[in-house]
Amino acid sequence: MGKGFSKRSLTVSPSLTLAITAKSNELISQGVDVVSFGVGEPDFNTPQYIIDGAKYALDHGMTKYTASGGTPALKKAICEKLSRDNGLNYKPNQIVVSNGAKHSLFNTLQVLVEEGDEVIILSPYWLTYPELVKICGGKAVTVECLPEDGFIVRPEKLRAALNQNTKAIILNSPNNPTGAVYDKNDISAVAEVLKDFPDVWVIADEIYEKLIYEGEHISIASLSQQMYDRTIVINGMSKAYAMTGWRIGYAAAPTVQIAKLMDGLQSHETSNANTIAQYAAQTALNGNGDSIDAMKEEFSKRRDMMVDILAKIENVSIVKPKGAFYVMVDVSALFNKTFRGTKIETANNFAKLLIESYYVAVIPCEGFGAEKFIRLSYATSREKITEGLKRINDFVKEIK
Ligand SMILES: Cc1ncc(COP(=O)(O)O)c(C=O)c1O
Repeated sequence: MGKGFSKRSLTVSPSLTLAITAKSNELISQGVDVVSFGVGEPDFNTPQYIIDGAKYALDHGMTKYTASGGTPALKKAICEKLSRDNGLNYKPNQIVVSNGAKHSLFNTLQVLVEEGDEVIILSPYWLTYPELVKICGGKAVTVECLPEDGFIVRPEKLRAALNQNTKAIILNSPNNPTGAVYDKNDISAVAEVLKDFPDVWVIADEIYEKLIYEGEHISIASLSQQMYDRTIVINGMSKAYAMTGWRIGYAAAPTVQIAKLMDGLQSHETSNANTIAQYAAQTALNGNGDSIDAMKEEFSKRRDMMVDILAKIENVSIVKPKGAFYVMVDVSALFNKTFRGTKIETANNFAKLLIESYYVAVIPCEGFGAEKFIRLSYATSREKITEGLKRINDFVKEIK
C-alpha cells in the first residue's frame, strides 16, 4: 500500500480559468495594460455604512465565537429579508449562516447527497456545482439550456433527466454565466415538472437576485407550500452588497432538521462564519437598499453598453443577459480559422491568444459546460469596457 490520496480529492478538476488569470497577473506584474473581463465580483467597494457596522463590532467586543450557524440577530435579519423580498417565511432556527454561499451549497449537498446519487445541473452552469457534487460523492447530470431559448431550460428536457436516482436539482437564477433570469412562467414550468418527482430536493442559488435589469426575481420556494417544503434557498452578501471578501452566505431550509444537520457539519468544519462579518451583514440587511440600487443602475448601463458594442463585432454572437454581470459570447464561428499562423479550435485557444496578443482576459466556458462560449464580466469600468471591446474587435478582425 502506497501513500495514496483520496479519490474525492483527485476527482476535483482544477479551474480552467486559472491559466488565463495567471497569464493576466504575470502581464500586469510586467507593467502591461491588461483589460480584464474575467472578474466574478463587483468592482465597487463595500458601502460605507456596512464598513461602519464592522468597525462598531470591533469596538464593542464582537470578536469572539458565535453560535456555529450564525448570531440570532443576523438570522433574524435574514428571516426579515426573505419575508420582505421573497415572500418566504422562516424562523431563525431554519437559517444557517456560513462562510459564503459556496460553503452553504457545500453544506446542503453534504446533507442531501449519498454516494452515487444524481444531482441535476442546468448547463451552462457555475463551474463549482459539478465539483461540489463530486466531492459529496454524487454524480452531476447536466441538462443543456440553449442560447435560442435564452438559456432557460426546456421542461421536457428536464423531465427526461429526472429518474429514481435523482436526489436534487440545482437552480440558479439570475444565472452565472448566462445572465438568464427565470420569469414566473419559466420557474412555474420547472415546478410543474418537479411535481411528478416529489422526492427530489431543489437547491435554489439566488445569489444574484438583486442584479436584475429586466424582469423580477421569483424564488421557486415561494410558488407553493409544496415547493417551499422541498427547497433549500441559498443566498449571501457577496454580489448584492459588494462583500465578496467578507465571506457571508446563508441557507434557508424548509425544516429545522435540515438546518440542524447543516449546522452540525459546520460546527466541526469551520465553526461560525467570521463574527465581525456577521455583524456587518446584519447591518447591510437592515439598511435601506440605496447602495444596491446605485450599483444595479451602473451595472445596467454597462450591460447595455457592452451588448451594443458586441452586437457590432463580426463573427461573434451573444444572448442579451437579463441579470448578474456577465455576457456569454459565442465564438464558435471563429473555430478552425487562423490567428497569426495559429489555428483556433476551442474557446480556450481563443482566450489564450487574446490575452497573449491584445492583453484582454476573458473566461473560456468549457468549465461551465458551454464549449462554444467565452464569458465577459462587466464588473469593470465603462472606460475599460470600451477599450477591451475595441481590442477584441481588432483581434477578431485579424482571424482569417
Ligand atoms: C452562481 C454563484 N453561486 C454562488 C457563488 C458564491 O458566492 P460566495 O461564496 O462569495 O457567497 C458565486 C460566486 O461567484 C456564484 O457565481
